[in-house]
Amino acid sequence: MMIRCENLVKIYQQTGIDVLALQGLDLSVEKGGMIGIVGESGSGKSTLMNILGGLDRPTTGKTIVDGLDLLSLSNYQQDLFRRTKVGFLWQQTTRNLIPWLTALENIIFPMVRAQDKQNRAEKLIDLVGLKNHARHLPSELSSGEQQRVALAMTLANNPPLLLADEPTGELDADNPRAIYALLKEINCEFGTTIIIVSHDPEISRHVQRVVEIRDGKTSTEIIENRTDHGGVSKDAFLMLDSAGRVQIHRHALESLSIGNRVRFDITENQIILEPVEEHRRTKPVAKNEEWDAFIIEETQEKPIHKTSFLKRIFKKRKDD
Ligand SMILES: Nc1ncnc2c1ncn2[C@@H]1O[C@H](COP(=O)(O)OP(=O)(O)OP(=O)(O)O)[C@@H](O)[C@H]1O
Ligand SMILES: [Mg+2]
Repeated sequence: MMIRCENLVKIYQQTGIDVLALQGLDLSVEKGGMIGIVGESGSGKSTLMNILGGLDRPTTGKTIVDGLDLLSLSNYQQDLFRRTKVGFLWQQTTRNLIPWLTALENIIFPMVRAQDKQNRAEKLIDLVGLKNHARHLPSELSSGEQQRVALAMTLANNPPLLLADEPTGELDADNPRAIYALLKEINCEFGTTIIIVSHDPEISRHVQRVVEIRDGKTSTEIIENRTDHGGVSKDAFLMLDSAGRVQIHRHALESLSIGNRVRFDITENQIILEPVEEHRRTKPVAKNEEWDAFIIEETQEKPIHKTSFLKRIFKKRKDD
């Protein structure tokens, strides 16, 4: 397992007010996996990425990355971890590159091993298709090209983990696709575990697993399955935490007007939740357009393998 987070809690203290950014988040990611993380603004995605990348520490909880318990590292070990175990790709192209170094020098800059730097950097710049731009400064590159150089830079020390926080957020037109394709290539070629945070519904086309974070907890997961006949199906799951808690998506609650109680019935192989008349929700729940678009797109374009509770709800909403 590349990543194991258990019950992560992160509280930011801001002039006397505590902000609960992560509220007992659990997440496991296999070695060599490539997953997408989606969620509303403020749900805790970047907070999680910063913790996984050793840039920040959780208030409580466990984070194991590539066999290392991040909370037990000394400052020196944490620094070494950041430089050798993880590559970071940020949304802001300007944050990724050093403006006064050429593309090639940017890739060489973070390298920790003394030998062969030039050679390795040339291979990496070739990998991202920018061999002819090696001597260009970032300001002489398009934003898509800058992001490709940044991607090569994250691979400088061949890290087992690559964290990309909205890497295509500032790119337009066809550039996101080129970045996703490169990430896929890196994942396949080097076995790098890759986590991509995205607001882009497109993300689900490029990864095999998408996890939604809601209010600081992992809540829903969509897994792509390839059938023997070359078809693709998607399964949606609610994620249970170690205490057995699940979060029911607000669209589901809204479409059935569920308030703060549900009746439940346990049959041989199902748990059925039903609205309770005297606990009906009266106010509509705030909408999450992005997740809505994401799910609807899935149900329109891909055959549904198993009609899960969630998907039936979304489909019903679409048909209404
Ligand atoms: N350094 C900080 N100090 C105080 N509060 C913070 C800090 N960083 C994040 N937060 C708060 O923690 C919560 C989670 O923030 P986070 O940046 O992880 O969200 P996000 O899911 O990445 O959002 P976005 O999609 O907008 O990037 C938010 O309420 C945010 O305001
Ligand atoms: Mg963020």
